[in-house]
Amino acid sequence: MTKRKILVTSALPYANGAIHLGHMVEHIQTDVWVRFQKMRGHDCHYVCADDTHGTPIMLAAEKRGITPEALIEQVRTEHLADFTGFHIGYDNYYSTNSPENKAFAETIYRKLKADGKIVSRTIEQLFDPEKQMFLPDRFVKGECPKCGAKDQYGDNCEVCGATYSPTELKNPFSAVSGATPVLKSSEHYFFRLGECADFLKEWTAGATLRADGVSLPHLQHESLNKMNEWIEGGLQDWDISRDAPYFGFEIPDAPGKYFYVWLDAPIGYMASFKHLCERTGIDFDEYFKPDSTAEMYHFIGKDILYFHALFWPAMLKYAGYRAPTGVFAHGFLTVDGQKMSKSRGTFITAKSYLECGLNPEWMRYYIAAKLNARIEDIDLSLDDFIARVNSDLVGKYVNIASRAAGFIAKRFCGQLASSIADNELLVRLQREAMTIAAAYEAREYAKALRDVMALADLVNAYVDANKPWELARQEGQDARLQEVCSVLINAFRLLTIYLKPVLPKLSEGVEAFLNLEKLQWSDSETLLLGHVIQPYQHLMQRIEPALVDKLIEANKQSMEPTSAPAVQCEPLAETITIDDFAKVDLRVGKVLACQFVEGSDKLLQFTVDLGFETRNIFSGIRKAYGEPEKLVGRSVIVVANLAPRKMRFGVSAGMIVCASGADDAQGLFLLDTDAGAAPGMRIG
Ligand code: MSP
Ligand code: ZN
Repeated sequence: MTKRKILVTSALPYANGAIHLGHMVEHIQTDVWVRFQKMRGHDCHYVCADDTHGTPIMLAAEKRGITPEALIEQVRTEHLADFTGFHIGYDNYYSTNSPENKAFAETIYRKLKADGKIVSRTIEQLFDPEKQMFLPDRFVKGECPKCGAKDQYGDNCEVCGATYSPTELKNPFSAVSGATPVLKSSEHYFFRLGECADFLKEWTAGATLRADGVSLPHLQHESLNKMNEWIEGGLQDWDISRDAPYFGFEIPDAPGKYFYVWLDAPIGYMASFKHLCERTGIDFDEYFKPDSTAEMYHFIGKDILYFHALFWPAMLKYAGYRAPTGVFAHGFLTVDGQKMSKSRGTFITAKSYLECGLNPEWMRYYIAAKLNARIEDIDLSLDDFIARVNSDLVGKYVNIASRAAGFIAKRFCGQLASSIADNELLVRLQREAMTIAAAYEAREYAKALRDVMALADLVNAYVDANKPWELARQEGQDARLQEVCSVLINAFRLLTIYLKPVLPKLSEGVEAFLNLEKLQWSDSETLLLGHVIQPYQHLMQRIEPALVDKLIEANKQSMEPTSAPAVQCEPLAETITIDDFAKVDLRVGKVLACQFVEGSDKLLQFTVDLGFETRNIFSGIRKAYGEPEKLVGRSVIVVANLAPRKMRFGVSAGMIVCASGADDAQGLFLLDTDAGAAPGMRIG
């Protein structure tokens, strides 16, 4: 087999938030693939790092009263502990705030500039006059220019979904200081992506002919379609500079200008690898020279495709390096069919998972069992998680060892049979090695694990057919008992090889139990004969449902009032005098009748008893009160001296008051009185 040289990365997590199970999907997917390649004997290197630059990290540090350097150091330690806890086996986990990354960012920028790919021009942007800084889109808030919803971000409206530029917001304010931003111009540097269109068209649609003869497309076909849309739509210049104050690398020969975080982030892959090469003697250039035959793969989420499938290959190419061999995008994790949510306790952090005492390999197995090579979202169904892990890993797999090992230890001093005539099952298991390997290689882990579990079913059927516990009680069946149990231990060893990329820790336990060196993929070609094994020790517990309840409880957070006010309140109206208030005559009314209005999907028609007279009033609350008959008999508050208004459906004599947020989407709520208030009573 040709020995491949492979460099693999996972996206670099931002250094201002905890690692959660969404991140873990990506790192488990990558780690399984890397472990598989290493077991196959290839030179495979897995690097990652924290993504440490940018405004949010700068401000997060400031809020905590520490330097950004101190913050990113602290977060890196936490991230690494989380990943290590889930057995993610990086060869290097570095930081984008490193000397290597600075050097590469500068080199790449200089090369792009020399190649005419960088231009500068002056642009206008919102500036916080109090904080003296330009505001990224997410740090400007205001009213949506389309629907008027309050407290929306500068790039899109969460109420109506409109996208716009922050300068279009009405009544904008800085999310940093609250000040009203002003427009200010400044010089920015741009990467001329449009100049790379021909290369990108070719690269995105292209494939690499690997050293082993396999032709592998650079992008999944869903990604390719997306990129084609973007390329056809015209590639805009990409703004790669930010003004001070900014936490990042200063641009050469441009004092006060910094590289935008997304410029140096992917370069962080190179920097982390370089750092590894320096330490271990791997030849960096072998992997990054333009005609390199080494493979380079990036595992990423679907949200950051644009950066990895356009900007990054173009940057590499025009700076004189090789482009990626493949960009592998995955979907997003949902929990019980919904987006992860802090209030529901389904925004599960890696740390809480480990601290609650859950076995990380349960999650590795479950996630892997759901992953394939397409960009589909992945659902963690908590009940299914418990059922699947208990049934597959404990019920089908681990049990095989526990059922056979006792007899081998007690009756045969731990020694396996020196020959196995009854080898049909084992031959069958060995034959599957190629199919399972192909599935791992193609990132079809769900298929790989389905195949492995189907083999485990065969092994369990063999146990039931041969009943070692009965053989153990029969005279003269010693040799047969030893053979059957040896078949089972060998089957267990083969299954362990196939599961090892997913279950590295458990596999270590198996290697110790079976007295073996580290299992490689090619070990599936051999059998253990006459070999002495150790007494069996428990390899994996079942998941107790109470443990999952505990995990959800640990992740439940009350919504922080400052981050997202539950209600978008209207601004306070201007001050009035008591006389002003006295002008409004509010009365208690009693609903005598209420019905839909034909031809209107907004209005309800009320007949209201005001004590001294009965009124007909139209009210636009149908959306909130869809069953008008239920309102009959209740009291409401009426603006009784409002001038009557002629409407298409009749005259409305007054108005029924309602509580509401800044927009109706937050609901409409009729007012009521305490018991005893009678129709006609005045409010004041
Ligand atoms: N810092 C950038 C990546 C720079 S790579 C040069 C970033 N960081 S992130 O922390 O927001 O996300 C890191 C990775 O986690 C991304 O690939 C992202 O798609 C992935 N995920 C974040 N939330 C996720 C889920 N809920 N589900 C699956 N993956 C998700 O983006
Ligand atoms: Zn809107």
